[in-house]
Amino acid sequence: MERIFGKPLITQRQIEKRIRELGTKITADYEGKELVMICLLKGAYVFFADLVRNIHISVDVDFMMVSTYGARASSSGVVKIISDLSSPIKGKNVLLVEDIVDSGLTLSYLYKSIKAKNPRSLKLCALLDKVERRKHEIPIDYIGFTVPNKYVIGYGLDYQDRYRNLPYIAVLDVSDIE
Ligand code: IMP
Ligand code: MG
Repeated sequence: MERIFGKPLITQRQIEKRIRELGTKITADYEGKELVMICLLKGAYVFFADLVRNIHISVDVDFMMVSTYGARASSSGVVKIISDLSSPIKGKNVLLVEDIVDSGLTLSYLYKSIKAKNPRSLKLCALLDKVERRKHEIPIDYIGFTVPNKYVIGYGLDYQDRYRNLPYIAVLDVSDIE
């Protein structure tokens, strides 16, 4: 793995530092409130696990699995809910956690469908923002890093379900996989 990707785009240290900052901000913003954090599987699971441990108020966690991408590294334009929430969120403060925002389709679709369940509040958090690719405007409340328009892997993000276990974010070197 290391051989293929060379230098990380975002190092483990940078990720750790940024997650501590996000955790501090989220802790302050939700002080005295009840918070339900939703992890979007599979991509956000590594980020989510680190983020919740940097939030110092009690949180309830839940998981959703959605798919937007097919086998190729391009958006199919369709969001499919593969696995939905396990508990109702009506009247709760909800924070949806995603790995990366690309076109914005996934989060804009989920924002509407979660809003329809009448939470008390709904905010969005993403580790990475590929801002140049945005097609569907959606405000992201907490962003880890802005990344260039390149396909990135590692730290939960995959290419064809591989490389999620890479402990940092790297740009996929297409010449090495073709
Ligand atoms: P969007 O719906 O176009 O915003 O795409 C978001 C989803 O596409 C994310 O949940 C990721 O699963 C996937 N995705 C977009 N860009 C990348 C990338 O560079 N690497 C890995 N997955 C990506
Ligand atoms: Mg995803």
